Amino acid sequence: MRIDIITVLPEMLDGFVNMSILARAQKKGLVEIHVHNLRDYTTDKHRRVDDYPFGGFAGMVMQCQPIDACISALKAERDYDEVIFTTPDGQQFDQPMANALSMKENIIILCGHYKGIDYRIREHLITKEVSIGDFVLTGGELAAAVMADAVVRLVPGVLSDEQSALSDSFQDNLLAAPVYTRPADYKGWRVPDVLLSGHERKIKEWELAQSMERTRRLRPDLLDK
Ligand code: ADE
Repeated sequence: MRIDIITVLPEMLDGFVNMSILARAQKKGLVEIHVHNLRDYTTDKHRRVDDYPFGGFAGMVMQCQPIDACISALKAERDYDEVIFTTPDGQQFDQPMANALSMKENIIILCGHYKGIDYRIREHLITKEVSIGDFVLTGGELAAAVMADAVVRLVPGVLSDEQSALSDSFQDNLLAAPVYTRPADYKGWRVPDVLLSGHERKIKEWELAQSMERTRRLRPDLLDK
């Protein structure tokens, strides 16, 4: 899988892309992540990528030309399954969307900034608009990082224990059961006896009951899905 991220703040993503799960996935040759500086694509001699909005509104708007040039250059090299724009008014990012994106071959993520981008880009070049939650960030870089992390860890082979992505919270609309490690007794805080019993069926039943109880208590909305 290949992810191309377009941003005016590449420094913000460099560290993240070259560390964390994304670095491991790239080293294994399973994923390629490329960060593109939008300013490299402007024809403006001062490397500006934004301008004042028509209509006298407040804020600055990212211009069509550099975005179009960058996306066109990428599309000339390969086909893309999705051209995603990160924006608070997009479709809410969730685990099913992460699952679907993890099966794509090539995706572009365009990070929004300033007041927004010229709407014509959204109409003509963007295939999917995505929000990571009902709050407003200063830019789309953190949203792109969140999405890339959630998607890349689902690519087969990225996680060392393949099962572990399947037992994630949300994967079956249930929150995950609690987990414990040694020692079995820490300052009198005891691990549930069933987990020490070695009784596989009972442990599975306990895990499901815990998932159900935590979901009902903490996220009852998930049980309606
Ligand atoms: N850009 C600014 N806020 C955002 C959000 N909540 N999700 C995605 N992109 C954003």
